Amino acid sequence: MRCAVVLLLVFAAARAAAVVTDGLLPNGNFESGPAKSELVNGTVVKGGKAIPKWETSGFVEYIESGHKQGDMLLVVPQGAYAVRLGNDASILQRIPVARGSYYAITFSAARTCAQAERLNVSVSPESGVLPMQTIYGSNGWDSYAWAFKAKLDVVELVIHNPGVEEDPACGPLIDAVAIRTLYPPTLSKGNMLKNGGFEEGPYFLPNASWGVLVPPNIEDDHSPLPAWMIMSSKAVKYVDAAHFKVPEGARAVELVGGKESALVQEVRTVPGWAYRLSFAVGDSADGCKGSMVAEAYAARSTLKVPYESNGAGGYKRAVLDFVAVRDRTRVVFQSAFYHMKADGTLCGPVIDDAKLVGLRKKPSARRLML
Ligand SMILES: *[C@@H]1O[C@H](CO)[C@@H](O)[C@H](O)[C@H]1NC(C)=O
Ligand SMILES: *[C@@H]1O[C@H](CO)[C@@H](O)[C@H](O)[C@H]1NC(C)=O
Ligand SMILES: *[C@@H]1O[C@H](CO)[C@@H](O)[C@H](O)[C@H]1NC(C)=O
Repeated sequence: MRCAVVLLLVFAAARAAAVVTDGLLPNGNFESGPAKSELVNGTVVKGGKAIPKWETSGFVEYIESGHKQGDMLLVVPQGAYAVRLGNDASILQRIPVARGSYYAITFSAARTCAQAERLNVSVSPESGVLPMQTIYGSNGWDSYAWAFKAKLDVVELVIHNPGVEEDPACGPLIDAVAIRTLYPPTLSKGNMLKNGGFEEGPYFLPNASWGVLVPPNIEDDHSPLPAWMIMSSKAVKYVDAAHFKVPEGARAVELVGGKESALVQEVRTVPGWAYRLSFAVGDSADGCKGSMVAEAYAARSTLKVPYESNGAGGYKRAVLDFVAVRDRTRVVFQSAFYHMKADGTLCGPVIDDAKLVGLRKKPSARRLML
């Protein structure tokens, strides 16, 4: 009997230990590649199991950094190799996870020939189509985040290029696929906003000095930035203290989408009560210069915070007082303008350390009538 219990414990421990750890997935940067015999015409992967730890389908190419395509030199951000997903091609990896937990996937992608490329990232039954038409990263690469809730003990992550281009070899390059467990944020004392400092979020690839784009998500989706929704049509950029300057803690959000992206959190409020939203507005020291205006909205109140950025880091604090009109209030951050760095990449003001507190109770109607 005791023996069986011990065995069970051993199995349980083994299973727990088998769950994926935060960081690059096994061969997540594609550094271990197919044998020469499994490549056709130099780059085209033959068979579905040629790349260790991955399964591929469709026109998948194994690309070495420095590979020339026409007059374009392809660079690879992590290590020396990446894969290219041609028309209708996909890569798949099975990941042992903790059922019921939330995870964020981070991966890097670069557009090659087509103007508007998209990638469908899925962990059945959830999927998200990430558009890649706007260039945010100066070397052509951007990192993207997408989140899912694990419904099984082993999930299949699929990155699929649904595109159909004239040239079947056209399609995005993929590199550095990583994962991070997300912990549902709890309320901390003195703040009605969850994850107000943006400390909880997707994995940062160690060498990705261009941050991680968090694409727009709809309410039902799981957000890679727990408690926050990205609304409207453009992504926001998640930045870390290792590569950028952030006002508080280790992480913050750069509003790179102008009025086309909004960072939103909904909180419970009492209609008629007064609340105070305070936050930091700054720049991430990524060379984004200019007269910026960060906007905050809550209930019927708006605050425009001008911030003069010299692109070298810095921040100021701002406060928005508002009176709730409903039992739920959306706190919204936006950038009034688009900004562009000298290299043509989109940038904008940084938001961090958002706090919401109740100010005082509404005088009760009965007392007013007396
Ligand atoms: C290899 O190149 C030849 C000649 O360009 C082409 O006909 C063939 O379809 C290519 N094979 C693959 C698998 O792409
Ligand atoms: C990051 O960059 C350094 C220096 O270029 C390199 O030595 C290291 O291998 C890189 N790490 C990864 C994970 O690519
Ligand atoms: C994305 O992929 C998933 C899984 O294959 C699929 O169910 C979903 O319909 C796809 N979405 C689009 C828009 O193609």
